[in-house]
Order: sequence, then C-alpha cells, then structure tokens
Amino acid sequence: LLVGIDIGTQGTKAIAIDLAGVIQGTGYSSYQFEVPQPGWSEQHPDLWWNGVIDALTQLWEKGIRPQDVQGIGAAGQMHSSVLLSEKKEVLGTAILWNDVRTAVECREIESLVGEKRIYDITRNSVLPGFTAPKLLWIRKHQPERYERIRHVLLPKDYIVFRLSGELSGDVSDASGTGLFNVADRQWADDVIRELGIPRTWMPEVHESSTVVGYVTGEAAKVTGLKKGTPIVAGAGDNAAAALGNGIFKEGTGLVSVGTSGIVLMPLQRIPDVSDMDPDLKTLHMFCHCLPDTWHAMGVTLSAGMSLRWLRDSFKFASYDQMLAGTAEIAPGAEDLFFLPYLNGERTPHNDPNARGVFFGMHFGHTMEHFVRAVLEGVAYSLRDCLELIKRLQPHSEIKEMFLTGGAVKSPEWSQILADVLTCRLIGYEEREGPAFGAALLAGLGTGIWKQPQELPGQSGVPRITEVNSEIADRYDRLYPIYRDLYPSLRPVFQ
Ligand code: XUL
Repeated sequence: LLVGIDIGTQGTKAIAIDLAGVIQGTGYSSYQFEVPQPGWSEQHPDLWWNGVIDALTQLWEKGIRPQDVQGIGAAGQMHSSVLLSEKKEVLGTAILWNDVRTAVECREIESLVGEKRIYDITRNSVLPGFTAPKLLWIRKHQPERYERIRHVLLPKDYIVFRLSGELSGDVSDASGTGLFNVADRQWADDVIRELGIPRTWMPEVHESSTVVGYVTGEAAKVTGLKKGTPIVAGAGDNAAAALGNGIFKEGTGLVSVGTSGIVLMPLQRIPDVSDMDPDLKTLHMFCHCLPDTWHAMGVTLSAGMSLRWLRDSFKFASYDQMLAGTAEIAPGAEDLFFLPYLNGERTPHNDPNARGVFFGMHFGHTMEHFVRAVLEGVAYSLRDCLELIKRLQPHSEIKEMFLTGGAVKSPEWSQILADVLTCRLIGYEEREGPAFGAALLAGLGTGIWKQPQELPGQSGVPRITEVNSEIADRYDRLYPIYRDLYPSLRPVFQ
C-alpha cells in the first residue's frame, strides 16, 4: 500500500491505495482558516499536523495496517509560509496562499530585482499570495519574529519534517515562492540575495518523487505509522492533483474546484519569455511534479470558497439545500452576474483589492438565482483562466478536461462548468486528486513504478459531462458581459 496526504485549506485528507491504484481507505479531518482582518488569511501549522494524525488514525480504524504501507507522499496548499526557529519550532501562524496583504511588498520586490528580471528568472509575476512578499511583510511588520527565522517551509514540507525530521522541499511547490528559478528547477540564488533573505533559510529542493526521509520513532508513536517507512518530497496540491488524474502530457488539462479554482495544462518545455504576451504573465508557470515537465495554471482565489461563503452567510443548512432548485433557473440566472473576487483575484486581474459583486438584480430574482449566479460566476472566472491558457497554446484544441474537487459531486455545477468552458469534463467522484497524486509519487520514489507511464489510473467509473451546445452558445453571449464588469469596476476597488 501507499499513503497519500493532502494538506488542504479546509481540511487534511489521508488515503491508502493498493498497487493497482484502488483506494483502500480514506480519512479526513476538517478545520477552518482565520481571517484576522479583511484580505488576511492564516492557519497555525499545528492544525495541519493534528489533521494528519486524525486522518491517519481514521485509516487505521478502517483496517489499513501501517506495516503494509510501503511509502508516503504529501501534497498541500501552496505558497503558505511556515517559519521555523533555530530549534526548528514553529514561529506563529502561517500566512496562507489566499492572503492578499502584501501588495506593497510585491512592488518592492519588483523594484529591488527589476520587474522584467524577476519574471525572466522565476517565470512568474510576483503575486501577493506567493511566499517571498510574505517574508518581506514579516521583516517590516514583525521584526522580532523575522529575526528568529532560520528555516522557511511550505505546508506539506512541514508535514514531511514532522514525519521524518528532515527539512526538504520539492520543485513544484518551490515554484510558487517567487524565489525559484523555474526553468532550471533550483533556488534563484540571485533573487534571494538581492531581497536580503538568508539563503540558508531555504531547504534543499528535490524532484517530487525523491525519497527525502523515513518516519522517525517519535512520529511513528503519534501517527501510528511504522518507523522507517520512506517519505518522498511530495508536491504542491495542484501538480499532485494533475498527476493523480494522469495529466502530465501536453494536450490534456485539469479543472479543479476546491477552496480555490484552477485550470492547469502541462508543458513539455517552459515557454520562451522574450516574446511573451503581457496578459499571459498572470498565468502561473510552475514545475510539474515529474522531471522535465512544467505546467501553466490560472487561479481563481475563491471558487468553492465562494459557495461556502454563500452557504454560511445566508444560513443554508447544507450545500444540498442550497443547490436544490438551481437547475430550475435558466442558464444566465436572468442576467444576474456574480464576480467571485471576495478576497481579490489572481488570474487574470492580479488585483488584491478586487471584491465580490452581484450585478444586475431585479425584482424577479429569487435566492435560487443568486445561488446559480455564484456557480456561474466561478465558472466564468475559470473561463478567464482557460482563455489565457488557449492563448499560450494556440495549437492545442482543448475540447476535454478532467474535473476534480468538490464540483465533481454536483451534476448541476459540473454541467455549468462544462457549458461555460465549452469542454467535455471527466470527473471521478471518488477520485482524491492531490492525495492520490502524492501516493503515486511515493510509488515512483520507492521504485514500485519506474516511469510515469506505468502509473495506475484510478479505479471507478467516471462521470462524463457533455457540453450542451445550445446552453454553451448562450454562455458565450453572456461571458463578454462578465468579462467587461471588472475593468469598469477596477477604479472603485482601488
Ligand atoms: C495555487 C494556489 C491554490 C492553493 C490551494 O497557486 O494558491 O490553488 O494551492 O490549496
């Protein structure tokens, strides 16, 4: 068996798969993130570690035997800053990927390193969610905490550290720090030096399937894992979800709707930056979790989170109760639009000040229209991402993609996504994207499989959502209205 762990924003998942890729057990431990101020978002790393213990305990309770586990891989939310002291103790809460407090620091980084130069080296624009601006923010606003930092890790690296005692990172997650040379797959030493960040804070980075350590006696005691079980470096959650869905070749793509939403497409080589269309710079270009492979990705910050916000703020008892009735509302929600920018937006606007909007309300609108408008608004924002990816890869016909995350469970939402994206969507309800990908990495690292081509696909019957061309045409006519709303509102947000 192989165990995969996913450190999510709303919970931690652990799964055990057999060597045919069949899921033998799952465990899940949920939690929240804190919003100390609007635009901020934090979690204490203890929450994740306790989540791992809880989720693994559920596996053992379901009859999975720790002595059968041949390898462990972890994936997790990207960019969130875990800071450790000299004694490797956690220094306070991590600032998360969806925190947008660091707009000023992003500009500072651009002026210290040069806007063009930082893009050319890291192959990414500096965005508020990334790790580098968080470090500068802490240096400015929390100097005593900054003075005590000796190690900077990403969430899944912290879990690897708690399990193995080893400090490590992997290329896919390191790509989202703003401190990484994505083309060369190593730390961007010049950038780190020019920002005045000690290079010694950064762990050694590895390809994602490299074995970086073994479960310690102490970790074995609290988690129930067997001492000495190998652990691989792991990956950022989106790269791992892509691998879990078999997406590592050009021409295939992934739509994931979890707390965030993403559209991801693998790249066999990193695009040349010299003639890069400036709009494409709001796409992320990251190392994939397999050697010599990269991926482009557009990110909607509040995808599933917009639905959760609606459910909680408008006091629905459950998602089912909230979604009941949306299928009866005609596509387009009678011209009610929702912009899902509850905490700013990354792709395509890169604007931490953007905020959510309902537009076009009239007396005929009911609660069901609002729910449908939220589902459609998230889908339009993912279409923004897809349109950019299509511009990056003008020759690839994207007619079909894999769908993963919470949206797979809802046929209504899957249909809206297929029709807005004009893409046939293939989703496995029982597919555990990032955790499954992490388990596959463990199998590659421990030599169970030698090549990605040998990886097992997931078992289960896919749900295929075909495009309804009549409705897709309707969305095609409505999408430009959605797209024009943000530019008209931008001055108001600033
Ligand atoms: C990707 C990103 C999010 C998180 C969610 O750049 O910030 O998708 O990885 O966990």
